Amino acid sequence: MERYVIKGGNPLVGEVEIGGAKNAALGILAASIMTDETVTIENLPDVNDINVLLEAISGIGAKVERIDRHTARINGSTITNFSLDYEFMKKIRASYYFLGAMLGKYKRAEVPLPGGCNIGSRPIDQHIKGFKALGAEVNIEYGLISTQANRLTGTHLYFDVVSVGATINVMMAAALAEGTTIMENAAKEPHIVDVANFLNSMGANIKGAGTDVIRIKGVPRLHKTTYTVIPDQIEAGTFMFAAAATRGDVTVKNVIPKHLEATSSKLIEMGCQVEESDDAVRVYCKGNLQHTHLKTLPYPGFPTDMQPQISVALALANGTSIVTESIFENRFKYVDELSRMGANIKVEGNTAIITGVPRFSGAIVSSPDLRAGAALVIAGLAADGHTIVEDIVYIQRGYERFEEKLRGLGAEIDRVEDDKEITKFKFQHPVA
Ligand code: EPZ
Repeated sequence: MERYVIKGGNPLVGEVEIGGAKNAALGILAASIMTDETVTIENLPDVNDINVLLEAISGIGAKVERIDRHTARINGSTITNFSLDYEFMKKIRASYYFLGAMLGKYKRAEVPLPGGCNIGSRPIDQHIKGFKALGAEVNIEYGLISTQANRLTGTHLYFDVVSVGATINVMMAAALAEGTTIMENAAKEPHIVDVANFLNSMGANIKGAGTDVIRIKGVPRLHKTTYTVIPDQIEAGTFMFAAAATRGDVTVKNVIPKHLEATSSKLIEMGCQVEESDDAVRVYCKGNLQHTHLKTLPYPGFPTDMQPQISVALALANGTSIVTESIFENRFKYVDELSRMGANIKVEGNTAIITGVPRFSGAIVSSPDLRAGAALVIAGLAADGHTIVEDIVYIQRGYERFEEKLRGLGAEIDRVEDDKEITKFKFQHPVA
């Protein structure tokens, strides 16, 4: 089982290139099958989630050509299978995007029910509400979601919950419905806008993405396109908090600073300097970090996907911080691991009370999920001594060449398979 081994204590310094947004790319890849013409997608992150979804796309019969590690060419004209194999849903929840894409194009789709996951139960009732509002039938039995419609008709839909997945899924189905669909209380994340822009580049007629009211005028069909995925604001934010936690000086490049505003403003509150330019943000922190309070919210609020990362930095700050997780019900699982490194955090319900400590000590910790795993790496980078982060397969789902990019910033970190390699790393990177 692969692990990261880290020798902490080095401030991260330098520049790091940010890759394409995983959560935008997943919606875009699903939407790419909605035309029978060829679609070329650039700036895909080379991460497990993307590679699994590409396998799923060829699994239903589409042609998939990997031009290079960040570019794929897809042609959906040869799709014959409208039922997604369970193995793909088991590996990646976003497989449920095939429901909206195939319902829109073929008026039928079947995917396995997504399970819960490490951060919460994650129901999909809003996705189903949207499909039914468009006139589709939805049946759930034998662990499968099947949906079909004679025709999809534009509707006026109000989401009960702001949901990224439901907004993207229903937007795809509505793109090929007859008539106009208005979705109210829609999610506004940058990746929603990216999927809408992608669909529009294929001939869809979607307006208002990025606001909470999205208008979709159905079109008869979609056509070929070449599209570049936006930069990943969560990958960027992860490196920004790594800079803060290690008192470093890091510039994240190839980003859209506006997408990072909630992160940048919290870093400033914590005493860091943040300098923005057109496509880069520099974060440097010389003195001690200061405490702050935050509540995770749908965009443009502070992102839930950055909650573990900021909590690690706050656990090393002066004073006591309050972090409230309002999106998922179980996103503090990393706290027990962090406490083993010396953090002083008390979780009560969906709130963490974080009392800063001067330093962490290295330990063996295990990643409970993708973003928590990245946060534990940040903790190891800041800690005295050696840290081993286990279950890094979660981290590899969403971070491309994570250890390589961190080494480029001066981190002492390696991906290792066995104890022998750990011993060798510790010998090569001794603790003073
Ligand atoms: C997306 O998940 C992201 N995943 C998540 O990122 C991210 O944390 C989340 O949005 C919130 O920003 C992808 O884009 C692949 P939601 P999603 O539907 O779409 C409730 C990562 O680390 N809800 O916006 O599943 C739900 O339980 C991952 O990259 C319903 O009640 O999130 C949650 O409490 C982790 N009914 C809230 O809404 C529904 O039908 C937000 O969920 C759908 C959601």
